[in-house]
Amino acid sequence: MRSFIAIAAVIFCLSSCQKDKADLIVSWNYNPTFYNLSLPVGFPPMDIPENNPFTEEGIELGRFLFYEKKLSRTNTQACADCHFQFGAFSDTNQFSQGITGALGSRHAMVLQNLGYANNYFWDGRSATLEDQILEPVVDPIEMDDSWPNVLAKLDSDTMYQRMFYEAFGIIEFDSTHVAKAIAQFLRTLVSGNSRWDQWSRGELLLTSDEFEGFDLFRSLTGADCFHCHPHSSRLFTDHSYSNNGLDLVHLDNGLGDVTGNTFDNGKFKVPSLRNVEFSAPYMHDGRFSSLDEVIDHYSDHIESSSPNISPLIEFAAVGGVGLTATQKYQVKAFLKSLSDPEFINNPDFTSPF
Ligand code: HEC
Ligand code: HEC
Repeated sequence: MRSFIAIAAVIFCLSSCQKDKADLIVSWNYNPTFYNLSLPVGFPPMDIPENNPFTEEGIELGRFLFYEKKLSRTNTQACADCHFQFGAFSDTNQFSQGITGALGSRHAMVLQNLGYANNYFWDGRSATLEDQILEPVVDPIEMDDSWPNVLAKLDSDTMYQRMFYEAFGIIEFDSTHVAKAIAQFLRTLVSGNSRWDQWSRGELLLTSDEFEGFDLFRSLTGADCFHCHPHSSRLFTDHSYSNNGLDLVHLDNGLGDVTGNTFDNGKFKVPSLRNVEFSAPYMHDGRFSSLDEVIDHYSDHIESSSPNISPLIEFAAVGGVGLTATQKYQVKAFLKSLSDPEFINNPDFTSPF
């Protein structure tokens, strides 16, 4: 008898809960507004997946979810807690702390111009942004939750029920809808209004140090950075995976552990150089805390015997490109001309809470 009452109660709740939702839907509206992302002058077109077109409702939902702490088991950590806007959406800590206090072994990456990338993570293990987003929520050293639990938490909030309905026209949303919405938001994080961009559009002159630094950056006999961080695409990355001569012995195999090919050991995603002034520390393991250390590495400390070192690291045999103190200062001035304060202060990207 007791179990009969319990079952009856569950059935009553299920039907009345569904009825509650059905009542609410009458007042909701599924009529998404398609969104046209405007790209900075000179930027290549961005491929948007056909199964996840931009809508204003999807982007707004994605922004809420990016800042939503309920995506973690203890309701204490959001994506934005490791990806700070003032750090161009990277972490100021060398290694980010997950909800249990455990530390990862890689630096949290900058999130900008992501719609142009072909693979995600330092080792390229995710082929799409939508796939990437499914990982941190269930990663035991990050948000450590389960998708059923996260979905139940979101589904108990009428605001999210309405937002998912208005973005995707569905009542029973799942993890793919969460990933799609966050991916839409992340694709809007476009940075392209640095001093260098303004100079290239003829709107201002670079200082002589910035300009000399740019010349060194794009010169084969200078600092020779542009092969891997090309300015021609305006993205400052060739989207490849490469070994830039950091180590004699790889503690982290990077791409090699994903492909299983030992020729890929020590190769990591070539990051963009946009906003590097804001995104210290640097490299996959955050080993360098300043741009001076990064430039010293390329100038004087290349490990020429590093397994699988890229042939595009010029003068590796003599330890690097060998810049003078003035030249190092100029390369740094150029790197700082890639800073886009509008990006790190853009109110469209801040927390909605
Ligand atoms: C505990 C800290 C932490 C949290 C929380 C976190 N991330 Fe990350 N994120 C990282 C780290 C560390 C990496 C690099 C990991 C690697 O390469 O193995 C990364 C990489 C990424 C990348 C890859 C960027 C690229 O250029 O390839 C994206 C996109 C991203 N995170 C988005 C998110 C989203 C969305 C969330 C929330 C669902 C999130 N992150 C939550 C630390 C975190
Ligand atoms: C052979 C290709 C290659 C060349 C040439 C190259 N880089 Fe890199 N760069 C990389 C790779 C790969 C990484 C990431 C390596 C890692 O994390 O293990 C990187 C990382 C960086 C970073 C860190 C960015 C971040 O988000 O952590 C900076 C800054 C940088 N490079 C500047 C330069 C400068 C300045 C030059 C010229 C002096 C240069 N690079 C030349 C491939 C290259």
